[in-house]
Amino acid sequence: MFNRILYGGDYNPNQWPKETWTDDMLAFKKAGINSATINVFSWSKLQPSENEYDFTELDDIINMLTKEKYGIVLATATAAMPGWLYKRYPEIGRVDYEGRQHRFGERHNFCPNSLIYQKYASRLVEEIAKRYSDNKQVTCWHINNEYGGTCYCDKCEKAFRVWVKDKYRTIEAVNKAWNTEFWGHTLYDFDDIVVPNLLGDGLGDGRTAFAGLSLDYKRFNSDSLLNCFKMERDIIRKYDQDTPVTTNLMGTYKELDYFKWAKEMDIVSWDNYPSYNTPWSYVAFCHDLMRGLKQQPFMLMEQTPSQQNWQPYNSLKRPGQMRAQSYQTIAHGGDTIQFFQLKRSVGACEKFHGAVLEHANTTETRVFREVSQLGHELEKLDGLIGSQNKSQVALIFDWDNYWALEFTSGPSIDLRYVDQMHHYYRYFYDRNISVDIISTEADLSLYDIVLAPVLYLFKDGMTESLESYVAKGGKLVTTYMSGIVDQSDNVILGGYPGPLKELAGIWVEEIDALAPSQFNLIKEKSHGTIGKGTIVADIIHLETAQSLADYQTDFYAGSPAVTKNDYEEGSVYYIGSQLDDDLLSRIFDCLVAETSITKDKSTANGLEITTRETDKKRYTLVMNFAGEPVGLPERFVGKKDQLTDKAITTPKIEHFGTYLFVEENKSLGS
Ligand code: GLA
Ligand code: ZN
Repeated sequence: MFNRILYGGDYNPNQWPKETWTDDMLAFKKAGINSATINVFSWSKLQPSENEYDFTELDDIINMLTKEKYGIVLATATAAMPGWLYKRYPEIGRVDYEGRQHRFGERHNFCPNSLIYQKYASRLVEEIAKRYSDNKQVTCWHINNEYGGTCYCDKCEKAFRVWVKDKYRTIEAVNKAWNTEFWGHTLYDFDDIVVPNLLGDGLGDGRTAFAGLSLDYKRFNSDSLLNCFKMERDIIRKYDQDTPVTTNLMGTYKELDYFKWAKEMDIVSWDNYPSYNTPWSYVAFCHDLMRGLKQQPFMLMEQTPSQQNWQPYNSLKRPGQMRAQSYQTIAHGGDTIQFFQLKRSVGACEKFHGAVLEHANTTETRVFREVSQLGHELEKLDGLIGSQNKSQVALIFDWDNYWALEFTSGPSIDLRYVDQMHHYYRYFYDRNISVDIISTEADLSLYDIVLAPVLYLFKDGMTESLESYVAKGGKLVTTYMSGIVDQSDNVILGGYPGPLKELAGIWVEEIDALAPSQFNLIKEKSHGTIGKGTIVADIIHLETAQSLADYQTDFYAGSPAVTKNDYEEGSVYYIGSQLDDDLLSRIFDCLVAETSITKDKSTANGLEITTRETDKKRYTLVMNFAGEPVGLPERFVGKKDQLTDKAITTPKIEHFGTYLFVEENKSLGS
């Protein structure tokens, strides 16, 4: 996609006197910065009134960056609307979950179904695309910014009715899908449909009285914002057919179905803002998800060089942390490293947000030195661009399931979708086993193991694809709260886990909920390990499956908690309660032992080892996130670290220490 690793980030010279720009350029050059993301929030400057455009300043910025041979990531400036637009058309603002019409202020707050917003946004994009599409330094188009949120206004309500009609055709079909007979909510006409916010069917705690309706509204809202993206992209494409178009995503952000979005984007980009206590496994998980959206390398559009401002506690990144974190990004498929931001704001809510150039405005800072070290290291790594992560394990992630699981009332409020995904991912992360995160539409046959935890909502075609995967020898892992409902959140009758019953060789009669202080003891049979099951406990009947672990307490003591079923050439593991780490490890150790996957035993100590490869080369990144020095596997000792060009002589690696080992790729053609 790019011919060098873009290194740079958001730069807002428009916030500063022009006399300072040259000094900025000199400083950035010193740090090896080769790219800038510009024009993200400049609409009010580019169009000071309805009939007036003024590109003087943007021309100056682009000319300067062009002269310096920067890769320009050019934003379309449609994410923050100018005051005059609000004044003249107040309805462009959103109506929120509480039903309040918003006024001029903030950003990312346009109603996606406002024709006025669409008209003025597209005119602006047309002007920008026409003016700058010939500039060869424009390396990537950055549409809008962090699309998100939901609007519940009258325009959205009308558009939703059309969307629903398009999907269901008849009102009877809608009534059936949303099960409106419950509480006598029968709809007589499409005009009866009301948006599901707090004034309608929203229950206030993120749940809803009619999950079928709320699910469709989520799908509709995601589509509405996606239409805004497509509108801008198509305008750009009229003037520029080649330069990649992206918008910056936000990891596990709930509101948008990113698998659907990714199909419309040339390259995925995302903003990575872990907190001081975010587990590194979770950061890796987010990267893998972003790579999984297109099964391709991605851009890291934003990370802070050190500090943030919007978290409760905005700790500094410790020495070496930003570097290790950047290499973790690259290890999981990142092809760019970009910061928010290159220069720290003087005022407003992000003045405490870190930047390459801090308020001291000197290059003599720790942050600048670290940015600079990384910049010069990356200059040597362009060969890594486009290399792939190869995985034998896949984890199914799905926004419909994310929404549906968290909309539903009961059995437990502790069933959080992303936590569940991370819980099952972590076993593999801790053992340096690469995991692809895939959609429900992905080709499962590429994997030895497919993890499908809390696969609560079943879409058409999923049963067939899982069955054929297992029949051909695949190993499927699924859990409690799987196979329960159809795409409208109506239960698939006949016992849980519905369409998975035959595959799993069991049926579930009841689901117990275990409050935070409660657990059921579970004994695993092959080693006798006893551990805890929490959150929920399925009461399972065996059909063709065998029990791998039984509950030890309460009225269901002695009944199966974890089962395994052989199905044609493959097998299905069913986990009935959230197992503690030791217990889950026992089960997963057996699972992995049945495959050709190799576990790196020497590294279950906080050392991350991740490999990307091209036809010719294997790039192995080793990063220590353990919080203390740990032993380096013997195979690396004596080898040359490509980041520093020095041979590694010590068998220990410091906290946040990072090495890159490059070798010929021999696996190909063998
Ligand atoms: C987001 C936005 C940026 C900035 C950063 C601050 O990622 O895209 O404009 O506000 O957060 O962390
Ligand atoms: Zn709206």
